[in-house]
Amino acid sequence: QCGIAVESRIDCGRDRSLSRADCEGRGCCYVPLPQSGLGGPPWCFYPVRYPGYKMGPLLPTEKGQRATLARSEPSYLPRDIPTLQLDVMPETLGRLHLTLKDPASPRYEVPFVTSQSRGHKDIQNPLYDVDFQPDPFGFIVRRKSNGRVLLNTTIGPLLFADQYLQLSTSMASSAISGLGEHYTPITLDLNWSSVSLWNRDMAPHQCDGYSVLLLSKMAYYVVFLQPAPALTWVTVGGILDFYIFLGPSPQSVVQQYHEVIGYPMMPPYWSLGFHLCRWGYTSTNITRTVVQLMRQAKIPLDVQWNDLDYADQRRVFTFDPQRFGDLPQMVEEFHQLGMKYVLILDPGISSASPPGSYKPFDDGLKRGVFIKNSTGQILIGKVWPGPTAFPDFTNPTTQDWWMDCIRVFHSKVPVDGLWIDMNEPSNFVQGSVDGCPDSDLEKPPYTPGVIGGQLNSGTLCVSAQQYLSNHYNLHNLYGLTEAIATHRALLKVKSTRPFVLSRSSFPGLGRFSAHWTGDVRSDWEQLRFSIPGVLLFGLYGIPLVGADVCGFGGDTTEELCVRWTQLGAFYPFMRNHNDRPNAPQEPYVFSQQAQDAMRTAITLRYSLLPFLYTLFHHTHSSSSTVARPLFLEFPTDPNCQSIDRQFLWGSSLLISPVLEEGAVQVTAYLPPGTWYSLHNVIPPLMLYILNHKGQCILFPAPLDTINVHVREGSIIPQQVPALTTTASRRNPFTLIVALSVGNWAKGELFWDDGESLDTFEHGHYSYVLFFAQEVQNRVNFVKLNGSLDGLVLGEVRVFGVQASPTAVWANGQKVHDFSYSPDTKFLISYSLSVQVISLCFRCV
Ligand code: NOJ
Repeated sequence: QCGIAVESRIDCGRDRSLSRADCEGRGCCYVPLPQSGLGGPPWCFYPVRYPGYKMGPLLPTEKGQRATLARSEPSYLPRDIPTLQLDVMPETLGRLHLTLKDPASPRYEVPFVTSQSRGHKDIQNPLYDVDFQPDPFGFIVRRKSNGRVLLNTTIGPLLFADQYLQLSTSMASSAISGLGEHYTPITLDLNWSSVSLWNRDMAPHQCDGYSVLLLSKMAYYVVFLQPAPALTWVTVGGILDFYIFLGPSPQSVVQQYHEVIGYPMMPPYWSLGFHLCRWGYTSTNITRTVVQLMRQAKIPLDVQWNDLDYADQRRVFTFDPQRFGDLPQMVEEFHQLGMKYVLILDPGISSASPPGSYKPFDDGLKRGVFIKNSTGQILIGKVWPGPTAFPDFTNPTTQDWWMDCIRVFHSKVPVDGLWIDMNEPSNFVQGSVDGCPDSDLEKPPYTPGVIGGQLNSGTLCVSAQQYLSNHYNLHNLYGLTEAIATHRALLKVKSTRPFVLSRSSFPGLGRFSAHWTGDVRSDWEQLRFSIPGVLLFGLYGIPLVGADVCGFGGDTTEELCVRWTQLGAFYPFMRNHNDRPNAPQEPYVFSQQAQDAMRTAITLRYSLLPFLYTLFHHTHSSSSTVARPLFLEFPTDPNCQSIDRQFLWGSSLLISPVLEEGAVQVTAYLPPGTWYSLHNVIPPLMLYILNHKGQCILFPAPLDTINVHVREGSIIPQQVPALTTTASRRNPFTLIVALSVGNWAKGELFWDDGESLDTFEHGHYSYVLFFAQEVQNRVNFVKLNGSLDGLVLGEVRVFGVQASPTAVWANGQKVHDFSYSPDTKFLISYSLSVQVISLCFRCV
């Protein structure tokens, strides 16, 4: 019974540490190990077939099957729930949904509202089989095609008490990625680590595999990982609600997940440009100067931001009459330059202004929009403006009030987007200015993995009341609900695609908002960790994500800021942002050499925006990923499993940044195939042919260079860059054609006006497919459908042209302006100025 391999022991004392007597009192095994029991394998663990729930017969229901589970003896937990209802719902061929609830009294359930997520009723031949162990209850999910066990929950007991729910499972692979926002590599550490999902205002700090994904629909939970490989979920309320996605490919797992949580929004084109912010642009004149200096330095900038500096006494929906008195004019000026403007909006509404002097609070009070404490008074916390009340965004009245606040403010200051910060929600006092009641909600029998030790640390009392439920259940959804309300308000007020940036996240956020990774420090370690941070959010369906370029906390250095700008040029969302006390880090404050390097990187990004935008279209319409970990694209290449110092844009651009101080070379892994170096778009160009297996290669990476490689067989649409996307969108397109060994390549372009609502859904777009293929000894280049709507192709660069072309033709006309390099096999046709239908080289 107790002869369980050490790595497979499931801890019987998660809720508290146990002596031998306590442990054996629970009917568990106590077998000490030579090393300390802290943080390693447990000494007290469940024996095989630890008694638990007994499962009754499975009966058919509307959605699948249902069984009752009952315990004959209560568990060791307070307020145990003796009878449970199990629902097994095969929703699609690759998606299985399981819930465990209390049939006697409803418990809080996290709502997901997506239209795509409804499953079909009768699934014929799904990819999975489920078996049950009736006593003690457990289930086993297998992949039908090969019998592989993907999950096995019989390895530990199911526990289900009012404030403690637990389930363990074995995993089919040790390569596990995901579990929300944490400071981790792309694959999780299974060496007795844990990950908790409770949103906190906290700067990041340390603390056949791929083919299944588990989504736990719980408002808060902790996952314990162990080397078996196995994991244990523990949560303090709600129900147990799991989705299992069978893939089989990693890409399809991500798609299946996004079907449940919703496909990401289509961002406005301008939001893919460069954003510049800092806390400490203390007046409109200082903010204007920043924009002027950027323009003088000829560095592209689409979006200028202001942090809390703009607000009158830090109260949102106001602006300081002295320092920001002409804010509306300033925003107008930026618009004249073809730029956009975003400012910060904290959720905390100042509650201390004299009555009648601050409308958002007075009005909110009248309309009953604020979260109440457990005795029904408005809960007051403390954030930047001092005492504040917190809007309850789960209340429809609050959503309308929020929209009214945004509408009134926007009528004065025509902002283009909103940055919703501090929305965990963050609170500088614990719970409220009056503390929190001494209750089971505030102090559950067990509070795992929360910084500060209590659920109300750095946030609201969890016993506070919201429209939908108490804050205990809704805490992790605060940012999501604020993002939904803000997105809706911007949509109504502006009638264009909303841009919202949220610090707090929850599954589904990507339908409404972008995300940044919070207050990262300006150091090399945080530069490196930003890559897995960004990549994981792509998997979570929040593709518009980035870290603060050059770092937020502490002074940056010139070298770090150059390298960060190069990497940031490949974050889907690129914003340089800095904290108040720090040395400035706008590109123009650095040496000419550094400015040149930053300009090169940002300009390269701008040239690639049509490609990036097309990736966003795919993510929005069919749920792929934008910034992509290598394992997603090369799932069978074991070398790619844990790479998180490089990543891809889509399937065809490989980015290998310098992440070490002083380095002027970078070792990069190139998966099998032919890769062409982009090298700042300027020749000389290097070609790497690695047909059979991938290889690590040492590339030169002087300070002005980020290594980017184009994958064979791809065509990348680009556009001549400019200082804003307003200008670059009018420039000619260029194409990079990276021929495969078999002389073909393909690519595509999604193009619309960049900001109207639902252009894809309404058909207001052009979609162009590019093909290069060898036909009768010609490489032809054909546009298959769509129209470029007046846009002009200015230049084509073809990589991998093996022999010198005798001529280049565009639409049947000979092109005279071309060059070919026999050394690099690189052909450029310049000054095409055609709406190209067909381009042909090596024509006979
Ligand atoms: C915290 C945010 O994370 C940071 O980006 C911002 O500058 C400060 N709040 C001030 O608003």
